[in-house]
Amino acid sequence: MRFGLIGVGMIADFHRRAIQNVEGAEVVGVTDKFPEAARKFGEQHGIPVFESIEKLVKEGGAEIVTIGTPSGFHLEPTLEAAKAGAHVLSEKPMEITTERIDRMTAACREAGVKLGGILQFRTFDGPKKAKQVLSEGKLGRILIADAYIKYYRTQDYYNSAAWRGTWALDGGGATMNQGVHWVDCIQWLVGEPEWVQGLASTLDHQIEVEDACHAIVRWKSGGQGVIEATTCAKPGFETRIEIHGEKGSILLEDTRIKRLVIDDEEEVVEQVAEKGGGYGDPKAISTAGHEYHIRDMIEAVKNNRDPVVTGAEARKSVRLITAIYESSRGGKRVHF
Ligand SMILES: NC(=O)c1ccc[n+]([C@@H]2O[C@H](COP(=O)([O-])OP(=O)(O)OC[C@H]3O[C@@H](n4cnc5c(N)ncnc54)[C@H](O)[C@@H]3O)[C@@H](O)[C@H]2O)c1
Repeated sequence: MRFGLIGVGMIADFHRRAIQNVEGAEVVGVTDKFPEAARKFGEQHGIPVFESIEKLVKEGGAEIVTIGTPSGFHLEPTLEAAKAGAHVLSEKPMEITTERIDRMTAACREAGVKLGGILQFRTFDGPKKAKQVLSEGKLGRILIADAYIKYYRTQDYYNSAAWRGTWALDGGGATMNQGVHWVDCIQWLVGEPEWVQGLASTLDHQIEVEDACHAIVRWKSGGQGVIEATTCAKPGFETRIEIHGEKGSILLEDTRIKRLVIDDEEEVVEQVAEKGGGYGDPKAISTAGHEYHIRDMIEAVKNNRDPVVTGAEARKSVRLITAIYESSRGGKRVHF
C-alpha cells in the first residue's frame, strides 16, 4: 500500500521508518506547508516531494496519508486528503478539540475514506493484557484508578518549534501533548469519568500552556482516582497506571505490567521487552507502535473495517483533557 507523509518533522521520520519496516507498505511522497523543509526531507531520504496534498495523492499515488503536523493543524490536512480520496492516519492527539475531531470524522465518512488515530501505547503488550484482565472482570469492581505521568522536557524542547507550548497549535501542555497517550490508556481501561476537577499550572517553563496538571476523577464505574501530568519531573520517570479493584490490582510501568495480583496471587506476565518510552526524551520511543498502526490501517482499508483507533475513540482522551482544562479555568468540577 502506498503512503504519503504530510509534515516532515520529528515524528514524520518515525512514520517513514515504520512504513519501511512493514511488508507491503512504501512511502511514495511527502509534502509540508514549508516547501524548503519538505525539499530537505525528500532529498535526505530520496522521497519525491509534492507541493500540495492534492498532488501527493493524485500525482504521487498516495492511498493512505500520515499526518505529522502540529496537533492543532491535523484537521485541515485531513480535509484536503479526504477530498483528494486518501485514507488518513493522524498523529496523537487526533486534534486539540472534540469539535475539530468530529469534523475530521465527518469529512472522512462523507469522502468514503478511513480515519485512523495513532495512540500507540495501547497497542503494546502490557496495556493489552491489562485490558483483557479488566474486560474479564478479574479485578472485580474498580475502586481506584490513577495515572502518574511524570515527564521531563527542557525549555530548548519548547523553543525547538514555534508551535510547541501554544494553546493554538499544541492545544495544551503536559496533559494534551505528552499525557494524552496515558489518558487514552487509563480511560480505555476503566471507561469514562463521571466528573473531573483539575488544577493546571505553568511552573517551570516559559510557555503559555501547563507544565503541571493534577486532576481528581470520579469514574462512571463508581471508583475514583487521580491523573497527574507534568513535563517538570527531571529527568522523567516511567509512567505508572495503578488500578485497584475489589479482588486485586494492576500496576503498569510505562507499557509493561509490573505487578498483577488477583485474589492474593501474584501473576507472572509474559510480555515483550519493548517500552513506550519518551518520558525523558521525545525521541526515545521505538517504531513498534507506529508499525502496529501502519499494519492496522492497511488491514482496515483492505478488509473495509474500522482502524483500531477511530475518530470516536481518539476523541475520548481529548474530551477528558479539555474537561480538565475547563475545570481548572473555572475552578469547578466538569461533569460528563
Ligand atoms: N505518537 C507519538 O509518540 C508522537 C511523538 C511526537 C510527536 N507526535 C505528534 O506528531 C505531531 C508533530 O510533532 P513533531 O514533534 O513531529 O513536530 P515537528 O515540529 O518536529 O514537525 C512538525 C511538522 O509540521 C510542519 N509545521 C510546523 N508548523 C506548522 C504550522 N504552523 N502549520 C503547518 N505545518 C507546520 C513543520 O514544517 C514540520 O514538518 C504532533 O501532533 C505531535 O503530538 C506524536
